[in-house]
Amino acid sequence: MAVNLSREEMESFWMPFTANTTFKADPRLLTHADGMHYTTHDDRQILDGTAGLWCCNAGHNRSKITEAVTKQLSTLDFAPTFQMGHPIGFELANRLTEISPKGLDSVFFTNSGSESVETALKIARAYWRIKGKPGKAKLVGRIKGYHGVNFGGISVGGLVMNRKHFGQTLDVDHLPHTLLEKNRFSKGLPDYGTELADNLEDLVGLHDAENIAAVIVEPISGSAGVILPPKGYLKRLRELCDKHDILLIFDEVITGYGRVGAAFAADEFDVTPDLITTAKGLTNGVIPMGAVFVRKDINEAFLAAGNGAIELFHGYTYSAHPVACAAAIATLDVYKEDDLFARAKSLHHYFEDAVHSLKGHKNVIDIRNYGLVGAVELQPREGKPGARAYEVFKKVYETGALVRQTGDIIAISPPLIIEKEQIDRIINLLGDAINAVD
Ligand SMILES: Cc1ncc(COP(=O)(O)O)c(C=O)c1O
Repeated sequence: MAVNLSREEMESFWMPFTANTTFKADPRLLTHADGMHYTTHDDRQILDGTAGLWCCNAGHNRSKITEAVTKQLSTLDFAPTFQMGHPIGFELANRLTEISPKGLDSVFFTNSGSESVETALKIARAYWRIKGKPGKAKLVGRIKGYHGVNFGGISVGGLVMNRKHFGQTLDVDHLPHTLLEKNRFSKGLPDYGTELADNLEDLVGLHDAENIAAVIVEPISGSAGVILPPKGYLKRLRELCDKHDILLIFDEVITGYGRVGAAFAADEFDVTPDLITTAKGLTNGVIPMGAVFVRKDINEAFLAAGNGAIELFHGYTYSAHPVACAAAIATLDVYKEDDLFARAKSLHHYFEDAVHSLKGHKNVIDIRNYGLVGAVELQPREGKPGARAYEVFKKVYETGALVRQTGDIIAISPPLIIEKEQIDRIINLLGDAINAVD
């Protein structure tokens, strides 16, 4: 049934990362979701090419998850985890360490990717204090990185619009990004740019490793428009962090839970960081939740230092919320039963060929992909960055699919249940839209 909201009805909700005035003049409302489809307010079925916002990896309305959430609501709706506990929190942590990279056996629960990032950064700094090295406090991020929207995250993040309005940030420095012109139209991981990791040596030369706590990177940057690590880059970063005793944090809020064809990008790229931040796909997007994986001996250092008292003065009212735990456990069950991580891997080449078939379309200047993540970059309009891609995004939405616009890039990250014909349809709609927009 069609749903219409008046301007007045939409006034109070200050929408995030949205051009509120423009949106409310011509809104795009989603009213239902099932499987690979959303229903729009004007009663159209559109294909979900973005897994919601990179989170509904198992598709929408999964009965197993819905039932688990419903049951949990009437079993234990809420219970604190500060000096109290509940079995389902421990159950979920144990389930997660079954799939986490070897050695990352301690789990700290949060409610979002941004909170996972803040948690990881705080653990990194506090860890060095415990080790008697309080000077190791500087955090290193990367230009074009996205690590959520809280102060730690925007400090290590490298997207100007997310930083420039908010004043002083934390004590950080940045590595260069890995988006190189000579890698344009690479399929999968690009060949050039491994040496960009060596810029960490320069930062060590500038600040001294005695002052650096951690490096945080997204194995694949999502929000900046799907920027891939050059072959060997992440391994090199790992080696340099080892050499200088700097913690390595992978922000896997997007890459975690199957998107790249393995449980984590750390597995796929065979590089084990010291901490991993996650959220989104953890609960299939159904209930907000994040989880930070921490190397076991880091956790043990805290426990030893705590000497039986509270060892980390950090946590959220809703850390390990029982209903979120139920959603996450059911989600992990669905991933396993449907073998969805392997499914993403098996679709890698099909998806890659489909996305790269847009090469040669009007204004297309680059195409990038890995697993079930793809991006098509368009030539920006003179003086109007993002305008062309925004029109393409709108046209695709009007003709039957949801893709994501970020700057002049259209990103595609469908649920891992997507069928080949549905990949074709999204790509056809995107190709038509690109050709139709000047
Ligand atoms: C890599 C990365 N880190 C952190 C975040 C922030 O997550 P949230 O929006 O759940 O706070 C995101 C969100 O897209 C992300 O892509």
